Amino acid sequence: MVRSKIAGIGMYVPSNIVTNNELTRYMDTTDEWIQERTGIKERRYAHRTQETTTTMGVEAAKIAIERAGITVNDIDFIVFATLSPDYYFPGCGVLLQRAMKMKQVGALDVRNQCSGFVYAVSVADQFIKTGMYKNILVVGAEKHSFGLDFSTRGRNVSVIFGDGAGAVVLQSTNDENRGILSTHLHSDGTDAEILAMFNPGTHANHWREQSATFNEAEIGDMFMSHAMVEKAENFPNMDGPSVFKTAVVKFPEVIMEALAANNYQPADLKLLIPHQANLRIAQFVQQKLKLNDEQVFNNIQKYGNTTAASVPIALCEAWEAGKIKEGDLVCLAAFGSGFTWASALLKW
Ligand code: UT7
Repeated sequence: MVRSKIAGIGMYVPSNIVTNNELTRYMDTTDEWIQERTGIKERRYAHRTQETTTTMGVEAAKIAIERAGITVNDIDFIVFATLSPDYYFPGCGVLLQRAMKMKQVGALDVRNQCSGFVYAVSVADQFIKTGMYKNILVVGAEKHSFGLDFSTRGRNVSVIFGDGAGAVVLQSTNDENRGILSTHLHSDGTDAEILAMFNPGTHANHWREQSATFNEAEIGDMFMSHAMVEKAENFPNMDGPSVFKTAVVKFPEVIMEALAANNYQPADLKLLIPHQANLRIAQFVQQKLKLNDEQVFNNIQKYGNTTAASVPIALCEAWEAGKIKEGDLVCLAAFGSGFTWASALLKW
């Protein structure tokens, strides 16, 4: 049976370190509040003009490809997960294909926010299991710093997020003792607006308030207007406590689902890589599953929440630190906007 394994992994974070104290220059917050509520000490912000979501993804991808022992010419397909693309369209996948001078392979963008990378891995895994592709580049990258409200109004969101990228090469293998065992994807859109960025978008809520009929005078203003900007609708909006409450239920659920599907118990896990949303969420999950400190990897302290990039960055750092060896049972799990949540269980 053909399976997919992670043949190479890489990460890239910008050199600019932004501490909690630096954020107090822009908004009413404190280092103490941020550390106590989230565990975050600092995060990275990309260079304003020279770095984009795609360029960071490219840097991570180069390392992953080199570590896989292949070249860009061996890549059969690209899956790029992000919520902060360089352009509204086209997606980052094609920009990465161009930047890396790849063959004219397919490029797919995944828009599943915090669970984007795990979703992207699952998509790539299916293409490999069917035998369609041998080497797939899966990237998760974000440039959040460009789209956050740095006034006190946006402080509950903006202190959390950071920039960065992670990438893996998923490769087909016939080795029965290695690779992705299963992936598990879920969504529930009931509370889609609890964690969302409303504009630019085509929902036209803003205009619905003013006039239900199409108004020629407004035509150039419908997609993005001064009023939308004044109402901060071009920034992410989050009801943090509600997201927290659902996250601590869905994370353990989807991890247990992956373990049960493969007849494993939490104690069998070498390492859990949870999406780095909040250290308190990860600690809650650890407690609930009765995992010891060695079984859960966290690096949110250094990078904040990097959304689609957080799982591959954490996985990469854990691997580089020697915490994952061949044959180890590893679980990737994520929860976020949508809501969407997902897990992947693999033998390294
Ligand atoms: O990865 C995507 C998924 N996202 C998540 O998983 C996020 C889940 N939620 C969270 O991580 C937490 O809810 C937050 C870290 C966002 C917020 O922590 P919290 O303990 O839930 O705080 P809260 O939102 O209930 O706010 C408590 C207080 C409020 O003030 P009052 O109303 O008690 O006076 C906020 O206005 O803290 C205030 N506050 C802040 N104070 C200082 C909110 N943000 C800040 C801030 N600095 N940055």
